[in-house]
Amino acid sequence: MKKKAKTGIVKKKTVKGNKPAPLSIVVLAAGQGKRMNSALPKVLQDLAGQPLLRHVLDTARALSPAALYVVIGHGGEAVRAAFDGQAVSWVLQAEQKGTGHAVQQAMPSIPDDHLVLVLYGDVPLLRVETLRALIAEASARQVALLTVELADPAGYGRVIRDARGRVKSIVEQRDASPRQQRVREGNTGVLAAPAGLLRRWLARLRSNNAQGEFYLTDVIAMAVRDGLHVAAQLAGDEAEVLGVNDRQQLAQLEAVLRARRAQAALRAGVTLADPLRFDQRGELQTGRDVRIDINVVLEGRVELGDDVRIGPGCVLRDVKLGAGTVVHAHSVLEQCVVEADCVIGPFARLRPGAHLETGAHVGNYVEIKNATLGAGSKANHLTYLGDATVGSGVNVGAGTITCNYDGANKWRTEIGAGAFIGSGSMLVAPVKIGEGATIAAGSTITKEAPAGKLTVARSRQVSIEDWQRPVKNSKRG
Ligand code: UD1
Ligand code: MG
Repeated sequence: MKKKAKTGIVKKKTVKGNKPAPLSIVVLAAGQGKRMNSALPKVLQDLAGQPLLRHVLDTARALSPAALYVVIGHGGEAVRAAFDGQAVSWVLQAEQKGTGHAVQQAMPSIPDDHLVLVLYGDVPLLRVETLRALIAEASARQVALLTVELADPAGYGRVIRDARGRVKSIVEQRDASPRQQRVREGNTGVLAAPAGLLRRWLARLRSNNAQGEFYLTDVIAMAVRDGLHVAAQLAGDEAEVLGVNDRQQLAQLEAVLRARRAQAALRAGVTLADPLRFDQRGELQTGRDVRIDINVVLEGRVELGDDVRIGPGCVLRDVKLGAGTVVHAHSVLEQCVVEADCVIGPFARLRPGAHLETGAHVGNYVEIKNATLGAGSKANHLTYLGDATVGSGVNVGAGTITCNYDGANKWRTEIGAGAFIGSGSMLVAPVKIGEGATIAAGSTITKEAPAGKLTVARSRQVSIEDWQRPVKNSKRG
């Protein structure tokens, strides 16, 4: 670094002086994806719980572009509908005439002084940092190209360099000479270029090639001819630039993403019984010393407090678990809030609106929906609590059911603190059980059960003295 003696201004050699050009991102997503063999457009295929295109749009947005264009064609309406209400400019490419033609469809809306970044709806794992570094290389005098060194470059466009190692052009596999085919530096397709020049180059594309398409890749040779430098940036990680063409590749990317997220969880201090059998498909926030057993699937937004333990085979979607809570094997929790030190499962189901207060226990084959279970309360076996408010210190016996639905409407059950509900009780809502009330096992409760009293609602037991067991009719008869 040199100091200017007079002004004292520190000047770095690489500083370009101007502020960066506004960014327009163009995502190509018009292809059909024939090899997926699916009714769904390729970019709507699911990767770790989100459509492929969603991953790309999230990455694109992280770059804070001035505008975001998505070029659609095959299944375009379905794609638009899936992203309804999002800040995206949709551009229709009615006929798929090649990647260059696709980018061209977005150009009329992009001002000359923008920088254009081209991304792909089926290349979902690119990192924001990689793209930031790429954009930083692009300017009015320089095109930035993301390339990748490949063990097997089959199918990729090859990056052709001159004797001094400068990028000269890209040649598609099917147009490449045997010598060019030996080049192992592949084109990822991702590039950043100044909009004004890119517009001119795209207008000059010809389709006189092996595929009869307008190749975006041909703009590289045009840039060089116009005296621009092409800065090739090698992707550090091959997985990052992988595209999806078939379900095998989709599964491969799923594995990459799974591994990335498992690594992030381990780094955050989570113990994973097996990082290969941990599926985080949404956002995860964890406290200290969280332990997660095998085959756990986390979807949506999941928050796990300190010392939470999740047993094998559990599925959690949009849940928040307080510190010290333990979820035993094969429990399914969705849109619920669980406070500290609760014990859930095995084989428990918490549905939307379930709320367990501190220290509550929910055991096997218990389903809870839109209901609060108060602090220290227990429902340990074979029970359904729906549309209910259960106070603290309540014991709900095995086989208890809140009969919340009359065929037309849902009704609430209220159970006061300290109540004891005998096994096999039917609580026909709307109904109230008072504080400290005891319900005799096998009762069908249809009226308020007063506080502190034993309520029995079942027929009296009788034994018939002279009753005889029937006997089989004789065969001769
Ligand atoms: C392209 C590149 C190749 C590169 C490879 C990386 C060109 C000419 N070739 O080849 O150099 O190594 O990607 O994977 O660019 N698309 C449209 N409209 C079209 C054509 C394509 O939206 O008219 C979209 C597709 O949906 C796809 C992407 O562009 O997402 C790439 O198209 P594809 O035909 O797969 O190009 P490749 O032959 O793989
Ligand atoms: Mg492809």
